[in-house]
Amino acid sequence: MRWSSRQQAMLQTMGLRLWSRAASTSSKTPAPTPAPTPAPTVTAVAAAAAAPAARREAPPPAPAADARAASIEHLDWPALREAVAACQACELHRTRRQPVFGVGHERAHWMVVGEAPGEQEDLQGEPFVGAAGELLERMLAALALRRAVQGPEPEAQRVFIANTLKCRPPRNRNPQPEELQACEPFLVRQIALLQPRVILAMGRFAIQSLLQSGEPVGKLRGRVHRYRGVPLVVTYHPAYLLRNPADKARAWDDLCLAAQVAQQAVQQVAADR
Ligand code: URA
Repeated sequence: MRWSSRQQAMLQTMGLRLWSRAASTSSKTPAPTPAPTPAPTVTAVAAAAAAPAARREAPPPAPAADARAASIEHLDWPALREAVAACQACELHRTRRQPVFGVGHERAHWMVVGEAPGEQEDLQGEPFVGAAGELLERMLAALALRRAVQGPEPEAQRVFIANTLKCRPPRNRNPQPEELQACEPFLVRQIALLQPRVILAMGRFAIQSLLQSGEPVGKLRGRVHRYRGVPLVVTYHPAYLLRNPADKARAWDDLCLAAQVAQQAVQQVAADR
């Protein structure tokens, strides 16, 4: 990847190092700025699931919840949007202004999974539009990734952004286990429809939902996990990064790792043809 002077200036402002697609893929072309990313290692979900869970467990799903999950499993994009819009499966539907389905191209190679809508997201109906969203946008832009549904970019440069919870918890409190459980089938179906090349799980609730792990981000980042066969990279939530800017460089390393994974997936598909 070539960096525009604007991208370089922006990364420097954020105190982040550069990621180079050439550096990660080609031994012939010397990269101007080598990517300082750790080598990916694949960790089975089972291993992540075996990690000690430092959280309150949700009760086992009731048969009705299983039936609901099964009915969501076969929805296409429009039907899934409708199901999210009409959802009353947990108490959050009473206090939300609107559910936040997610945004992005339906064939995006990247999927970002965050926590839950905040006030701005609840108002606007789009994920990550507040302060944390601005930081996320800058980090994605540094990799030339865009959330826009329309536009000339190839699918490899597109990102679909969703949350573990589609509705805002009152006063932005933490999601409750039963809320995560009720919302999970929507995220599962979004991932199945999208079939992203890489998932970036941001923050502990995304990690809890996708890896069933209560381990802290710091212990899970820096390697490649798998969610139902899809490579998954864990990183800090942008809201955390706003409070802890020293960790932005680590988050950038995580994005570079995810970029390597996405790139490798594209190359694998080409090689298999
Ligand atoms: N934080 C999230 O995790 N998601 C949003 O959509 C906004 C803030």
